[in-house]
Formats: sequence, structure tokens, C-alpha cells
Amino acid sequence: MKTLLNLRALVLALGMAAVSVHAQDAFKIGLILPMTGQQATTGKQIEAAARLFMAQNGDKVAGRKVELIIKDDGGIPDAAKRIAQELVVNDKVGVLGGFGLTPLALATAPIATQSKTPMVVMAAATSIITEASPYIVRTSFTLAQCSVAMGDWAPKNGIKRVVTLVSDYGPGIDAERFFKERFLLNSGQVIESLRVPLRNPDFAPFLQKVRDLKPDALFVFVPSGAGAAVMKQFLERGMDKAGIKLIGTGDLTDDDQLNDMGEGTLGVVTSHHYSAMHPSVVNKKFVEAFKKANKGMRPNFMAVGGYDGMRVIYEALKNTKGGQGGGDALLAAMKGQIFESPRGQIFIDAQTRDIVQNIYLRRVEKKDGELYNVEFDVIKEVKDPGKTK
Ligand code: PHB
Repeated sequence: MKTLLNLRALVLALGMAAVSVHAQDAFKIGLILPMTGQQATTGKQIEAAARLFMAQNGDKVAGRKVELIIKDDGGIPDAAKRIAQELVVNDKVGVLGGFGLTPLALATAPIATQSKTPMVVMAAATSIITEASPYIVRTSFTLAQCSVAMGDWAPKNGIKRVVTLVSDYGPGIDAERFFKERFLLNSGQVIESLRVPLRNPDFAPFLQKVRDLKPDALFVFVPSGAGAAVMKQFLERGMDKAGIKLIGTGDLTDDDQLNDMGEGTLGVVTSHHYSAMHPSVVNKKFVEAFKKANKGMRPNFMAVGGYDGMRVIYEALKNTKGGQGGGDALLAAMKGQIFESPRGQIFIDAQTRDIVQNIYLRRVEKKDGELYNVEFDVIKEVKDPGKTK
């Protein structure tokens, strides 16, 4: 009898020890990012923003320590999936985040579903992504959101004949489709739709074709990091001087690269959800702190996706007392969040788990000796127009 009681006490004590060890376990956030390869700037921007968020908000939420693990997928979908599996199984991360390209997010989605791990998409922007797993929440944007805005603006501003040029994969196809649909509805005409490969694109032959077609404007989507190459070729061919306007989504005049693109960019109009020049107190503080913590860098829309993604995770951790209830409870606490981001007010639609946000029309101007996308119009609270259900 006595030994039995002792045994019970021992089991109880062990159990309690296990609980208290568990309570002190760090909550791990696994960010999978392209830190090398063609999309490395996306990884660098998101990492810098995530670290800034933690420096500003501490590494403890609801009494639980938070640990950030950052892994490089090199922009390769199979690598992203394998890393996600390792992070979930070996490191026991509570949340996956990052995803610099659509194929990386799509490859990882089944891991999130199988392991019931919330997956915060901070960069990739094809509409379909949120439908690939019920555990996906997005804090970036969609190309459909931005492209519709340009399809409305261009025809009202004397642009009637357009050639579209997009990267030939998910977000490019969305940009082409949603721009075109809206532009045609507004009596515009798309005289040619060109698609360039995502990997190592050579824009020269495509731009030559555009020059020969002489449209009023060229509408461009290329992913963050590729804009400078398009701009260089466009200007070298003298296409601006030939009267062809350049328009597109803001990925083209990316704040990360814009200063290096030179004054040939002045006047280029794009539609997007974030500009480093967004005139709000929250943004001014964000840009200042980001620049201070990362010498020589200026935050772009990828940084904001990462910064807000961390906030969504932190809020969910707060509301679940440090992640109690596991992945499903965290996911529920991410849905419906609403707060002021450096880009303006944002909302995570509880139904679609996608972001609802303002889309701005912006023009490249010189301010304080730097090139910026200066906002001149806004379409408020835009939902993703690209949802299939
Ligand atoms: C994407 O692959 O979804 C993507 C990447 C970079 C962008 C936009 C979309 O700038």
C-alpha cells in the first residue's frame, strides 16, 4: 500500500515537473525565407522586420518566451517543404511563417494542414494561396487587389492601349488577368500580353517587341528584386522618350531598389499596399526604427508583411495565454484581427484568412534627396477580388 502511494506521488510529481517544464518551453516561430538566390532581398527584408518587431515588443508573450528560427529555402519549393517538415517535427515550432514566393507557400501548405500548424504567409501574393490550406493566414497582399486599382486608374488618365508584361507564374498570371478584366470593362484595349520566365529572365526581346507595338503604356508585374532590370532595359531602349508610359503594381518600383534605379523612374505610376513614404505616424516610426537597426536599408512591402505577420502571431499568443490550445486555438485567434499597420488599417478576414487593406496609387518623386513612391489616391478596404469561393 505504502509503495503504491509513493508510486502515485512519484507519478504526480513527474507529471507536474513535465507541466512546469512545458510552461517554460519557448514558443518557436519558424520563418522559412529565401536568404540566398534570386529572391534573397525578400528574405533579408522580412528577417530585418521580424527582428525589429521582437526588439520593440520583447521576446516574452503572456509569460512565455518566444524564439525565432530562420531557415533559408534558397527559393526552392522542395527545400521549403522539407524545412517545414523538420521545423514541425524536430523543432516543434508552433507557427510557420515567411514564404517569399508563391511556389514556396504552395509546396508547404500540406505540411501546415497535416500538422495543424498555422502558416503565416508574409510575402507570396497569388490569390489561390489561402485556399491551399485552412491553416494559412496572409499578411502580404494579392496581385488581384493591386491590379484592379490600376485597371481603373489608367483609362481615366488617357491610357487606352496597353501591352502587359508579367512573370510567367501565379502572381503574374493574376496581375495580367485582373488588370485586363477591369481595363477592358473601362473600355481599354490590351493589344498584347507577354509573359517572361521567372528564373533568370531576359527582358530585352520582350521590351523590343513592346517598343514596336507602341502602346500608350506598358503594364508590368515582376516579383520584388526584378524591377531594376526591367527599368534599366526600358530606359536604355528610350521607350519613355518614345512616349510609352510605364505602369504596374508597386513590385516594380520596390522601395528596396528604387533609389538605385535612378531618376528615369520619376513619374512612374503604380498601385500597391505599401510605400516607405506612407504619411502616418506609425509608418514614420517604423521606417525610422528599421533604418536605424539596418544601416543602408529602407523597408519595402516585404518588410511590412513580415512585421505585421509577427504582430498577428504575437496577438494570437496573447489571446491564447502563450499558445494554449495548440494550432487550432492560435489560428482562431489570428482570424478577424484588426490593427493599424505601417501601411494603414488592416484586417484579417475571418472567412478567407486573407488580408483586407487599402490600395494606393503612387507616383515616383524625389523627396529629401531620395526616390519614393508618393501616394496620391487610395481605394479603401480592398478585399482580394481573386477568391474562387
Ligand atoms: C509571389 O511569388 O507570390 C510574389 C513574389 C514577389 C512579389 C509578389 C509576389 O513581389
